[in-house]
Amino acid sequence: MERTFLMVKPDGVQRALIGEVVRRFEQKGFQLVGAKLMQITREQAEYHYAEHVGKPFYEGLVQFITSGPVFAMVWQGDRVIAISRTMMGKTDTLEAGPGTIRGDFAVHTNRNIIHGSDSPESAEREINNFFSSSELVDYSQVIQQWI
Ligand code: TYD
Ligand code: MG
Repeated sequence: MERTFLMVKPDGVQRALIGEVVRRFEQKGFQLVGAKLMQITREQAEYHYAEHVGKPFYEGLVQFITSGPVFAMVWQGDRVIAISRTMMGKTDTLEAGPGTIRGDFAVHTNRNIIHGSDSPESAEREINNFFSSSELVDYSQVIQQWI
């Protein structure tokens, strides 16, 4: 089962959009396998955004992502990596269409509510940066179905 790392950024947490973001992924049909509200360290942020080192927005990005609590999540489902990117909307909020999370809630590219992994490699790397395996549930171990 494919997994991805999604994160409501500090602007989304402050704007009380955690529930809205979770609702969209639940209703789409994906399964939440891990979640926590956390303040990320500078080291975690630098590892997370290593691909952007040296870009003009890098320092502001690291400052922003460490500026307040984030809501870190792991979701699973068929093609969850690509589909969640579509649900998030384009990075540039000018191009993020209506109906997408960024399109509906964000005006500025550097305050764009949500992060989502862009490939299986980045998903694995990002999940490991924020979660230990004991923090992720295994639904195949569930002993009784209630719904
Ligand atoms: P990136 O990985 O390119 O986008 P995405 O989040 O869609 O995977 O960039 C990481 C974050 O950096 C992006 O969400 C917002 C910020 N950013 C800027 O502030 N300015 C920019 O010009 C770009 C490309 C990104
Ligand atoms: Mg990215």
